[in-house]
Amino acid sequence: MAGASDRPIGVFDSGVGGLTVLKELRRQLPGESTVYLGDEARMPYGPRPADEVIAFTRQAMAWFAEQRCKLVVLACNTATAVALETVRDEAAVPVIGVVRPGAAAAISASARRAVGVLATTGTVRSGSYLRALRDLDPLVDVVQQACPKLVPLVEAGEARSRAAEDAVREYVEPLLRDGAVVSPAVDTLLLGCTHYPLLRETIERVAGPGVRVVDSAATTALAVREVLESHHLRRAAGDAEHRVHATGPSDRFRQVASTIFGEELPLVGQVELV
Ligand code: DGL
Repeated sequence: MAGASDRPIGVFDSGVGGLTVLKELRRQLPGESTVYLGDEARMPYGPRPADEVIAFTRQAMAWFAEQRCKLVVLACNTATAVALETVRDEAAVPVIGVVRPGAAAAISASARRAVGVLATTGTVRSGSYLRALRDLDPLVDVVQQACPKLVPLVEAGEARSRAAEDAVREYVEPLLRDGAVVSPAVDTLLLGCTHYPLLRETIERVAGPGVRVVDSAATTALAVREVLESHHLRRAAGDAEHRVHATGPSDRFRQVASTIFGEELPLVGQVELV
């Protein structure tokens, strides 16, 4: 009979970007089955008011409960920033967000403890990265930069375009100058949005060799492993099963997904969240 540890890990994002976190989870925890849900029909979450993001995240949590997930990862930074505390209180299983793991990655990367956070408007407004970074190092210099042009560019398949480079310059260059927006200039950029790893090359080029660019995928997978182990929920062996679902049409989803995974994803099942 299948035990609790055989149940899948749920991974939630507003769309396709959370697949970057799923990929790392599958790499670090190859024995675990996963169920991914991207709320493609209602993304972007970034500009939405907090109560709406909380309502959508609650609906997703109810769906993951139906899938009998043993743990849920909110791979969406905006959902983590505004809804994690609420859904964590309500859930019967552990819920892990990406903000704290992302902050941990930035603190270990930053030699001068000067971090720039690139994120959606909703994430910046919540202040959650600022708090998470200061929890880890109260003296860290943090500058948050909302980047509302970036998600639409990635979604439009224009991550490598001139427009994307111009937008990245607009957001990143002010953080690189001592005393301009932040004093001192940042030595680490934290990609606080699921879509920004798809712009990593451009961001690294604009930031230059003296700046580390980090995201939360690896440290989130590590946090998942620790929680599974401490609750004896880890499934180390056996054939893992992976399912991917989206709330919107699957064609574009599959296209971006294959860029992230470097291969075609198994069938995307369509889900309606209520
Ligand atoms: N998933 C969102 C995040 O990480 C980005 C896309 C959106 O705005 O929905 O913040």
